[in-house]
Amino acid sequence: MALTPTGQIVDAAAAAGRGVGAFNVIQLEHAEALVAGAERAGAPVVLQISENAVRYHGGLAPIGLATLAVARESSAQVAVHLDHAESPELVGEAVRLGFTSVMFDASKLDYAENVRATREVVLRCHDAGVHVEAELGEVGGKDGVHAPGARTDPDQAQEFVAATGVDALAVAVGSSHAMLTRDAALDFELIGRLRARVSVPLVLHGSSGVPDEDLTKAVDAGMTKINIATHLNKAFTAAVRAYLSENPSVVDTRKYLAPGRDAVATEVARLLGVLRAC
Ligand code: G3H
Ligand code: ZN
Repeated sequence: MALTPTGQIVDAAAAAGRGVGAFNVIQLEHAEALVAGAERAGAPVVLQISENAVRYHGGLAPIGLATLAVARESSAQVAVHLDHAESPELVGEAVRLGFTSVMFDASKLDYAENVRATREVVLRCHDAGVHVEAELGEVGGKDGVHAPGARTDPDQAQEFVAATGVDALAVAVGSSHAMLTRDAALDFELIGRLRARVSVPLVLHGSSGVPDEDLTKAVDAGMTKINIATHLNKAFTAAVRAYLSENPSVVDTRKYLAPGRDAVATEVARLLGVLRAC
C-alpha cells in the first residue's frame, strides 16, 4: 500500500479492464480528499500535480512533497504524478523529489519534434524507474492551444509509442479540458481502434465533461487512466460556497475548507465506482 509505482497501478488495471482515477491536486486539501475517497472505495488512485498548479504555488517542492507525504501515509495504493509538464527541467525535479510518474506534454510541437523531445524524457525517466505518459493528438480545451475536435490517428499512435518508448498514451477522442457541463461526445469507435493498435495503456484527459455512463463505457472500450479535475473543483467550490453563505461571519479557513474536502472525498469514492476502479 502507500506510495505505489504508477506503472504498477495502471498496468494492472489495463490488464484487468479496470479504470484508474487520476485526480488533480491544487491545495493540500485536494490530496487529503482524494486519498480519503480512494480508501473509502478500496481502490488505487493517482494524485497529479499540473505544471499550471506548480506555477500557482511558485514551485513544485512544497505541494509535491506534501502530496508525497499524504500518499505515503495512506492505506490505499497511491501514485504521485506530474501532469502536463512542458518543461524537461520540471520533469527532472519531479523525478528527484520521488514522483512515481510524469506526463511530458509536447503535443504542441509537430510530430517529429514531439517524438524527439518525448524520447529524450523517456530515456532519462526510465533510468530513474519513473513511468512516462505522453500526449498525441491535442486534447482540446487547454488554454486555446489545442484544437477542439482533434482526434488521434491510430497508425500514428502505434508508431509514436514504438518510437518514444512511452509507458502510457493520452489520446484525443472527443473530450475537452475544463468543461463545466457533462455533455462531451466521445468517439467510442476510435477508442476501440486505438486500443487495438496501441500496446500501452490509454489515457483520457478532460474527463470532467464526460457523463457517468460514458466514463464507464470508455473504460469498457479500452481507456484506462481517466483524468478528472474540473468536476471535483466544482464539488469543492459548491460546498465552500454553501458553507460561507450559511455562515457569513466565519473567518477560520478550516471551517469552510473542510466541507469542500469532504465533498471531494465523497465524489471521488463514487467516481471510482463509475470507473470500475475497484
Ligand atoms: O490532466 C488533467 C485533466 O485532463 C483534467 O481535465 O479538468 O477537464 O477534468 P478536466
Ligand atoms: Zn489533461
